[in-house]
Amino acid sequence: MEKLRYERPVIQKLNTGLMNKFGMNTEYLPMKEIEGIPVKDLIEQYESPLFVLSENKIRTKYRDLYTSFSVRYPKVQFAWSYKTNYLNAVCNVFHQEGSWAEVVSGFEYEKALLNGVPGDKIIFNGPDKSLAELRKAVQNESLIHIDHLDELYALIEMAKDSNQRPKVAIRVNMDTGVYPMWDRFGLNYENGQAWDAINKIMASNVINLVGLHTHIGTFMLSPNAYAIAASKLAELSLRIQKKFNKRIQYIDLGGGFPSTNNLKGAYLTGSDLVPPLDDYAEAISSALLNSSMDANELPILILETGRALIDQAGYLLGTVIANKRLTSGKRATILDIGINILFTSFWYNHKVTPAQDFSDYREEMELFGPLCMNIDVIRENINLPTLKKGDHVVIQNVGAYNMTQWMQFITLRPNVVMIDSHKKSHLIRQSETVEYINSMERIPEHLNKITL
Ligand SMILES: Cc1ncc(COP(=O)(O)O)c(C=O)c1O
Repeated sequence: MEKLRYERPVIQKLNTGLMNKFGMNTEYLPMKEIEGIPVKDLIEQYESPLFVLSENKIRTKYRDLYTSFSVRYPKVQFAWSYKTNYLNAVCNVFHQEGSWAEVVSGFEYEKALLNGVPGDKIIFNGPDKSLAELRKAVQNESLIHIDHLDELYALIEMAKDSNQRPKVAIRVNMDTGVYPMWDRFGLNYENGQAWDAINKIMASNVINLVGLHTHIGTFMLSPNAYAIAASKLAELSLRIQKKFNKRIQYIDLGGGFPSTNNLKGAYLTGSDLVPPLDDYAEAISSALLNSSMDANELPILILETGRALIDQAGYLLGTVIANKRLTSGKRATILDIGINILFTSFWYNHKVTPAQDFSDYREEMELFGPLCMNIDVIRENINLPTLKKGDHVVIQNVGAYNMTQWMQFITLRPNVVMIDSHKKSHLIRQSETVEYINSMERIPEHLNKITL
C-alpha cells in the first residue's frame, strides 16, 4: 500500500459545512468525467492543464437561444463573435448551425474567410480597420459597421474611386439606463452624432446603408436595456425611412447577454443573478414588434451573442502541484493553471470542482497558479475539500474569452480538445512548444554566440 503523505496539523475554528442562512452546503460532488470521458483519461492522453469543449453543449445552447428568438420574431440571424472563441473548430460548429461571422480585426476577418464564410455573411466591427482591410471587405460585399467618422470618410473616398458601393451599418452607442455607458465605440444616439453620420452616408450617394448596429455592453443583467436599445434603433430606422424613403435591412443588437458565471463581488451566484435568456428575447422582440415599423417589412434581427453561447461548454482541467500554509495559517493549494490561461479569473469566481472522491473535511483555501508572480491567484477564497498533490480539478464555465485572451507567459499554452456528440475527443489546438515560440524569433548575427 502506498504510504500516505504527511501533512502538518493545524488547529483552527471550523465553520465548514454547518447550516448557514442559505441552508446546508451541498455544492460539492466530484466531477469525474466530462461528456462521459473520465477526467483522468483526458489528462493522461492530452496532459495537464487542458481545455475541453463540449460540442453538444455548444449546439444545444445555440439551438435553445435561436428558438427563444425565432418563436418571438420572424427574422433572426446569429453571427458568431470570433473574439469570444476563434478556434476554427468552434467557429465551424456555429457556422454549421447557421451563424454568420462577426469579426473585429483584419486577423479575425481572414480567419472567417479561411473557415469558408462567404464575404457577405461577415460582419466587420471594431475601431481599427486598415484601408487595405476595408477595401477587401468592400470587394467581398461584407457588412462594414462604421465606428467613427474617419472610417466613414475613408470609405466615401474609396467608394468614389470604385464602381462598388460599400454595404455599411453604423454602430450606435446610447443611454440604455445602464452605467457607465459604453460610448467609446460608434456614434451617439442622444446627442445626434448617429443621425449626423446617417445623413452624411445618404448625402454621399456612394455608400449603401443597410443596417443599424449597437453593442450596449457586456454581461448585461438587464433585459430592459435591450428593449430600450431596440426601440431606439427602430426609431432611427423609421426616421431614415421617412426622410430618405430607404428601408434598413437589419437591426443588429450586438452581444452582451450574461453567462451563468459568478461575478466577483456579486452577492448571488451567477445562476441566481442572471435573468433567463428568454427574458432578453421577449424584451427585444416586443420592442421591435411594438414599434411603428411596417409589420410586413420588418428588418432582420441580428445577434452577436458570444459568452452566453459558449461559456458553459468549456472546462479547464488541472492538477495540484503542491500544498502549503500561508503565514496566516490559511491553506494554499498550487495548481498548474495560471491566470495566463484563465484570464477570466480576473472578473469571475470560477467554480472549481475536484475530479476525484474526497473526504468530508473541507477548508477555506486560496488557489494559486504555477507562475512565479504574486498576482497569479485563481481564487482568493474558496471552501473546498482538501486536495492532495497530483489530484485533478475541473474549472467550469471557461469557454468564452479564455482561448483568445490567453497569454504565452512563463508557461506555454496547453492543448484544447473538443468532445463530439459521440463522446469522442478531438485535439483542436495543439499545445505550444519551445520550438514554435522560438520559430518567431530572430537573433542578430553578433548575438548568435555566447560564451560563459
Ligand atoms: C461588437 C461586439 N459584438 C459582440 C460581442 C460579444 O459579446 P458577448 O460575449 O458579451 O456576448 C462583443 C464583445 O465585446 C462586441 O464587442
